[in-house]
Amino acid sequence: MLAKDSGKKIILTGDRPTGKLHLGHYVGSLQGRVKLQNSGEFDEVNILIADDQALTDNADNPKKIRDNIIEVALDYLSVGIDPAKATICVQSGIPALHALTFYYMNLVTTQRLSRNPTVKSEMKLRGFNDSESSDNEAGLPAGFFTYPVSQAADITAFKATTVPTGEDQEPMLEQTREIVRRFNQIYGDILVEPEILLPENKTQRRLPGTDGNAKMSKSLGNCIYLSDDAKTVKKKIMGMYTDPQHINIADPGHLEGNCVFTYLDAFSREDQFAEYLPDYKNLDEMKDHYTHGGLGDVKCKKFLIKVVEEMLQPIRENRAKWEADIPAVYDILKTGTERAAAEAAETLEEVRSAMKIDYFNGDKIIGEWENFINGDK
Ligand code: TRP
Repeated sequence: MLAKDSGKKIILTGDRPTGKLHLGHYVGSLQGRVKLQNSGEFDEVNILIADDQALTDNADNPKKIRDNIIEVALDYLSVGIDPAKATICVQSGIPALHALTFYYMNLVTTQRLSRNPTVKSEMKLRGFNDSESSDNEAGLPAGFFTYPVSQAADITAFKATTVPTGEDQEPMLEQTREIVRRFNQIYGDILVEPEILLPENKTQRRLPGTDGNAKMSKSLGNCIYLSDDAKTVKKKIMGMYTDPQHINIADPGHLEGNCVFTYLDAFSREDQFAEYLPDYKNLDEMKDHYTHGGLGDVKCKKFLIKVVEEMLQPIRENRAKWEADIPAVYDILKTGTERAAAEAAETLEEVRSAMKIDYFNGDKIIGEWENFINGDK
């Protein structure tokens, strides 16, 4: 039975376990996943801890990946991913994904892969040289270069229709759709073309780092982590990048590139003004005052701390509960991975049979060989 024909709505999304998850993950994806999981609209929700993908540029640091498996699972559980409604699984425990990746690699060109903007920007971020640069010595690990193909395997193995993720993953989805179309065109209608599902609020799609950099990223050291304690959060927000020209309170402030206001765009709700900052009815009023001069950064930051804390406090409490029962977290991962492995294995069977490499699924090849040598036309 093909999911393609079943009309099922299936979610697959994932994260690399290279570190704790941060606010960027939360607004860009985690928060949405919880909503989708609870919406009852989906037949399946699968969440992948992409350790194999993380290893593509961390071959020399397996411990880092291992240490973050439970950590990321804790992040998921503490934001409200419910193992009764969603399957949390670990990529390396799903061998069918490796086989699918290997077959899909034949359906993409190296030229196409080198045009992938996410791979390009991550290359820069991680200090890899690309092949166009003058120094060709460094190069890329081949696994890193092809990880978009492995991501296509992740998505298609579950016959996912919907991939809720951050804007930065759009090129991966585009690549996946191309692979699906190519596969189906050659081998028959087996795979499902997925769609990306982005947060509605634009600032939630790509949250800048606390230093004003376009992206919150562990390697840039500009993250607020879901597991940060209240003191750390306060310190990070108080040190946040605002408007360097806003020196005196009376000076007019600028909103462009001002993280405090970007974060307020992403997180604050109107009712929080009445509670924490009754001087203003809403964010527009607050911005208005700021840009006309007379509103200081510290006051803005203090409000942002309240807003962020309101969000992080319950997550922290949940985390403490799960941290007290790590064996339960382990069981959730193990059960989820087994379920996912079985599902991906089914897709791999279909793929192999469509590709005519299912030799040992019945012995049809014997009769075929006889026809072949007898000049079957
Ligand atoms: N590449 C994603 C990231 O860096 C993680 C990921 C792996 C993923 N497999 C996926 C996301 C499948 C969506 C779907 O965050």
